[in-house]
Amino acid sequence: MGNGAGTDDHDLVLRADNITRRYGAVVALADASLSLRRGEVMGLVGDNGAGKSTLLKVLSGAVIPDSGSIVVDGSPVSFKRPSDAMNAGIETVYQDLALVDTMSAVQNVYLGREELSRNPLLKALNVVDDRGMRKQARDTLAELKVGIQTVNVSVKGMSGGQRQCLAIARALIWGRRIVILDEPTAALGVRESQQVLELIGRLRDHGVSVILVSHNMQQLVQVADRVTVMRLGRSIAVRDVKDVTPEQIVGLITGALPADAQAPEDTATVIS
Ligand SMILES: Nc1ncnc2c1ncn2[C@@H]1O[C@H](COP(=O)(O)OP(=O)(O)O)[C@@H](O)[C@H]1O
Ligand SMILES: [Mg+2]
Repeated sequence: MGNGAGTDDHDLVLRADNITRRYGAVVALADASLSLRRGEVMGLVGDNGAGKSTLLKVLSGAVIPDSGSIVVDGSPVSFKRPSDAMNAGIETVYQDLALVDTMSAVQNVYLGREELSRNPLLKALNVVDDRGMRKQARDTLAELKVGIQTVNVSVKGMSGGQRQCLAIARALIWGRRIVILDEPTAALGVRESQQVLELIGRLRDHGVSVILVSHNMQQLVQVADRVTVMRLGRSIAVRDVKDVTPEQIVGLITGALPADAQAPEDTATVIS
């Protein structure tokens, strides 16, 4: 595929190939591809309008692509709605978090899961008493070292970092394989950002694979294993983070550094 960082198919938990999505005349995604290994953090970077959010939405079932293929754990999938992606083990934490202020941390962890109750395990959890839910939420938050003392107080008084950590913990409880994070530290201060980055590291230690969109190159190289660079709807380069500097990533984003070679049939459709 012309990816600088070669990928062995057997350890891929997710593979999206040649994803295209148009909005009228706008080509949001043009043959974009992305692969994700088990237990890795994949950074996804690109200028505004490069197609990052659209690609995340395709992977989370919120947007249906015009063409392209997605394979999860070796099986082709076709997401028609967000619950399809959730059922495949993909959890997305959006920037605005979707936590409900007036509900407790534990209630937020379980929010909106009723629709998944076809799964017998989740069905059982739905009838579990409050105490059982509180205990599971507390155990997971403790395991992740999320600094939330009481899981049954409302999230209203929580800091931005605590809220982000809670949303990520919720993702871990419900979708243990793949977590998609869209700029999780964008609204946070330095110390809280650090907490969130450490939590992302612990997700990886649990074998979870993470796709992380970030504009902060310092944070990205701190936590990501690889990075996929997008330009004008295309994935134009993949790098092992240990092989590049933040400046080189910026160069790939802006075009100061050249894209990886495209297959000949691709070059005919390059947008300029
Ligand atoms: N719902 C939509 N309707 C029309 N155009 C859209 C829509 N979503 C995204 N786009 C366009 O697709 C391109 C890629 O957008 P987006 O995926 O949001 O990029 P990024 O997240 O990298 O900033 C942009 O030109 C954007 O204006
Ligand atoms: Mg975006």
